[in-house]
Amino acid sequence: MSLLNRKSLALLVAAGLVAVTPLALNAAQPPANAPAAETAAPAEAPAADATAIELDPLLAGADVNRGVVVYGSRGGNCVSCHGWDGNGLGKNPRSEGAAALLRDSGLDAQGFIEIISCGIPGTPMPYHDAQAYKDDRCYGMTKADFEEGQMPHKGKSLKSEDILSLVAYIQTHIQGKPKATYEDCAFYFGASAEKACAFLKK
Ligand code: HEC
Repeated sequence: MSLLNRKSLALLVAAGLVAVTPLALNAAQPPANAPAAETAAPAEAPAADATAIELDPLLAGADVNRGVVVYGSRGGNCVSCHGWDGNGLGKNPRSEGAAALLRDSGLDAQGFIEIISCGIPGTPMPYHDAQAYKDDRCYGMTKADFEEGQMPHKGKSLKSEDILSLVAYIQTHIQGKPKATYEDCAFYFGASAEKACAFLKK
């Protein structure tokens, strides 16, 4: 996804010209199995095959064990809206049961980084880069560019390394998987897995 497309989408959203639905956003993104044609140089193209998880070089140094913590309630609290398994059914009243199904996301690493950092204008998806909209790092926009109620809410502030780790976690344990496995559940719940994940044991 090019920055430009995002930016123009964000501007349209801000102007109240388009209603952002998950569908509209997905339509603007390449599907998970499409070659990352226009955006990435060949050397950066992520593995297209969801079964062979190869992390984007953008995520060099990311730590999946840190990422799972950032996803949870002691970190960025993605879980409150997206659910531990990324099914979008979290109980957060700001988007109860209506957050994106991260398992089905067609975003590449760059797209995840951007959305997590900047949020999605006009939706409950918050931003997590503390500097977002103070300068124009997000979609080329600042606070002043938004109509009332269109600027994303501020989520928990996350350091950029933590965002990379979070994306690595989502791409290895959530994205592209039709259903959470016992192993995914155990990885998320750690010490309490035996109880929390019992329902996934055959
Ligand atoms: C207050 C609820 C809320 C929180 C907290 C939240 N999200 Fe979201 N998120 C949403 C909603 C709602 C959408 C769908 C927005 C839309 O397109 O209508 C979304 C969309 C997304 C998308 C876009 C998916 C796609 O394929 O288009 C990503 C990625 C995402 N969230 C990741 C995260 C991560 C990672 C965190 C934690 C750092 C997080 N979200 C925290 C509510 C939330």
